[in-house]
Amino acid sequence: MENLIKLAREGRLEQGLGLTFGQTHRPNQAQRVSYDIEELTKNYRVGSKADGSPYRFQILTYGCQMNEHDTEVMAGLLTAMGYEAASSEADADFILFNTCAVRENAEDKVFGEIGRLRPLKNRNPELLFGLCGCMAQEAGVQKMVREKFPWVDLVFGTHNIHRLPALLHAAKASTETVMEVWDKAPETVEDWPKLRKDSIRAWVNIQYGCNKFCTYCIVPYTRGVERSRLPEDIVAEVEQLVAEGFREITLLGQNVNDYGVDLGTVNFAQLLRRVNEIPGIDRIRFTTSNPWNFTDELIEAIAESEHVAEHIHLPVQSGNNEILRRMNRSHTREYYLKLVDKIRAKIPNVSLTTDIIVGFPGETEAHFQDTLALVREVEFDNAFTFIYSPRENTPAANFPDSATEAEKKDRLRRLNEVQYEISLRHNQALQGKIVEVLVEGESRTNRDVLSGRTRGNRLVLFPGDLSLRGQHVQVEITEPQTFLLKGRLVQANEVVS
Ligand code: SAH
Ligand code: SF4
Ligand code: F3S
Repeated sequence: MENLIKLAREGRLEQGLGLTFGQTHRPNQAQRVSYDIEELTKNYRVGSKADGSPYRFQILTYGCQMNEHDTEVMAGLLTAMGYEAASSEADADFILFNTCAVRENAEDKVFGEIGRLRPLKNRNPELLFGLCGCMAQEAGVQKMVREKFPWVDLVFGTHNIHRLPALLHAAKASTETVMEVWDKAPETVEDWPKLRKDSIRAWVNIQYGCNKFCTYCIVPYTRGVERSRLPEDIVAEVEQLVAEGFREITLLGQNVNDYGVDLGTVNFAQLLRRVNEIPGIDRIRFTTSNPWNFTDELIEAIAESEHVAEHIHLPVQSGNNEILRRMNRSHTREYYLKLVDKIRAKIPNVSLTTDIIVGFPGETEAHFQDTLALVREVEFDNAFTFIYSPRENTPAANFPDSATEAEKKDRLRRLNEVQYEISLRHNQALQGKIVEVLVEGESRTNRDVLSGRTRGNRLVLFPGDLSLRGQHVQVEITEPQTFLLKGRLVQANEVVS
């Protein structure tokens, strides 16, 4: 496995692990397809049910923004087939689990839900269950569905989403599970129909897949080789979104700073500048940036592009070089700290967030202390912290490990304690300050309270009228907390110029 990874990284491996690899695989126009929604759905339209009501779907989405965005594509396909969105699972004729495979507990949750919802089939004999997304790419999961969850009607993967109408049609007629999972993406799809969930914020894929093969991570196996979309296609999609009134665009990829490496004609810094120049564009975000290949040119592009928000999610994973090496992360602690210094020097007020794994196989207390020290030194604004979860067929799943579950849980607790104190302190520094917020809508728990985000991606809650949705407002921070800021709307006449 180590050898395969090495060959892949050097671009000398064309075919292996069921995948092709970026450096030798150069997508071109011929490998891009535009699916005609009419063509994809015309033979599979559904009418209404016997009682005259429409067929309804519910998609349950797990995992990252890639999955959230795929859900929008699949909702678009189902709508074109004649389905309508259900208000709950109980109301649905098709329940689709769009799954994440990154950690075992994400997988357990899905199987738990599939079991919990099974009785709905007794009430609605037409109800179909589907499973797609990253879990569907795993041979172990396919086997599990066959053996333990045979009432799941349909399984398809991340590379054949466009087959949903045909496969759902087949599943309706079949008494057995219809399973179609492709092990790689034959082409990059353009012009997907999408039913976007939000009308203020939109996700735009710029790159699919990942070539990094961090030893703990399943994503390169579930999402395939890195493929960049053409800059003109991305710009056209963003222009369209701006014309439709979207205010915030998030450019999506597993390693956005490697955008364009496979195209050879454009890089991420250049793409950001191009998107920044789109007339009418408001806010631009991007995620995720691997620390590797975060060039000075990219730092400058972020600093100089007025619409690009000052937030960088920069997963460090560990503060110890030996662990980083075994993780096959390409950065060292020193490289990372220097990168943070460069970013902070060029982008004042930048908000930095990160991902950290504790309990990686072989991690000792001393290794973990290096992570804690790095967290204290960098002072991230926020961190997503995880206990290492062994993933089938990834190299680290076979690495020797000695720490106990209790020790790992305790490391996570101590790490969170340090980070929460820093997050709170950073937020408290905003007490009494006025921040600019893009209003996203009502808060989840209180309809009289609006929620929005600062350019640095801080969540702000304040009383206000929903008519402000989609607008930039000034909010005075009155009650900073660890994970959010509470405040009050500052009226235009209060702002001293
Ligand atoms: N492409 C992104 C990360 C995508 S996965 C990047 O490299 O920056 C999101 C996060 O999940 C990772 O950053 C990592 O912290 C965590 N993760 C991935 N695999 C994991 C595993 N096997 N166990 C625990 N956490 C994991
Ligand atoms: Fe996974 Fe990110 Fe590493 Fe790719 S770069 S293998 S997605 S952690
Ligand atoms: Fe999960 Fe797949 Fe995203 S494994 S994190 S849904 S790419």
